[in-house]
Amino acid sequence: MFVFKAAVVGAGTMGGEIAQVCAAAGVDVVLKDVEQKFVDQGLQKAEQVTKGQLGGLVKKEKITQEQADQQAEEILGRIDGTTTYDRFGDVDFVIEAVPERMQIKHAVFAELDAVTPGHAIISSNTSALSITEMAEATTRPDRVLGFHFFWPASVMRLIEVIEGEETSEETMQAGVNFAQQIRKTPIRCAEAPGFVVNRILNSGAAEIWRTQEEEGIDPKEIDKAIGESKALPMGPFFLADMVGLDTTLHVAEHLHEAYGDERFYVHKGMKELVEAGNLGQKTGKGFYEHGN
Ligand SMILES: NC(=O)c1ccc[n+]([C@@H]2O[C@H](COP(=O)([O-])OP(=O)(O)OC[C@H]3O[C@@H](n4cnc5c(N)ncnc54)[C@H](O)[C@@H]3O)[C@@H](O)[C@H]2O)c1
Repeated sequence: MFVFKAAVVGAGTMGGEIAQVCAAAGVDVVLKDVEQKFVDQGLQKAEQVTKGQLGGLVKKEKITQEQADQQAEEILGRIDGTTTYDRFGDVDFVIEAVPERMQIKHAVFAELDAVTPGHAIISSNTSALSITEMAEATTRPDRVLGFHFFWPASVMRLIEVIEGEETSEETMQAGVNFAQQIRKTPIRCAEAPGFVVNRILNSGAAEIWRTQEEEGIDPKEIDKAIGESKALPMGPFFLADMVGLDTTLHVAEHLHEAYGDERFYVHKGMKELVEAGNLGQKTGKGFYEHGN
């Protein structure tokens, strides 16, 4: 199946950039959120990423500023921001990127099932929730799958294509093909807790979180040491702030529940920050002050 038109539901930390990735690959995309201000934030993110990427090409003298302006207009012109489902009637592939709560996902999947054409594939960018459970809210569980991008979606190449219990082979293949169509590298995964990447990433992060709390080390000092060592592009506390502490905590709790205390760890300080509504970069405060 070739995807002529995609839709992204949820224009937050991930959604705006996911829409940009689709548009930059030549795919028309509807970007929906519940309020216009969130849609606008997603569109701004898409514009910032597009201009940044094209600006880089101008700097390297691969294209002129005039070409960059024209390409930016074309890419951004493919993204249709909205707060309604009015233009979902001809979409081929939907990527849901609403908050990581099954109740919200279920409601959105039922809505998407009603407003999209029968052939459309409905996917979730979930980090840890069950694809099978989301599919139960639809009449097409064979056409539901996980389609898991990584932050920042415009930069990270990998997409985990996740098979729910009812996902058909044809749908899995369509997911792999669409990932390639938008210039990403797909890997197929079973519906295992943490899939592949978060299981690996969190096993390392959990050791650092545990040591930080046991030894009372300043998280910023840890991030600084890791940054200076160049072992990783950024330390785990800054990364958690950028990803969103609610999302990071949810994944950590899920892995801890699935695999136990020996392998995973839930950072108590992170939990307290989330309970106080401090979710990192998106709310302006987390382990760091972000001054939004
Ligand atoms: N943040 C990350 O690094 C990351 C990485 C990979 C996957 N994910 C997953 O992607 C999903 C979204 O995460 P995020 O970090 O972008 O969340 P976020 O909180 O930054 O954004 C979610 C957006 O969804 C909107 N929303 C809420 N209910 C909605 C509805 N009914 N219809 C349309 N929009 C609605 C919110 O207004 C918000 O703008 C989650 O499942 C998360 O686990 C996140």
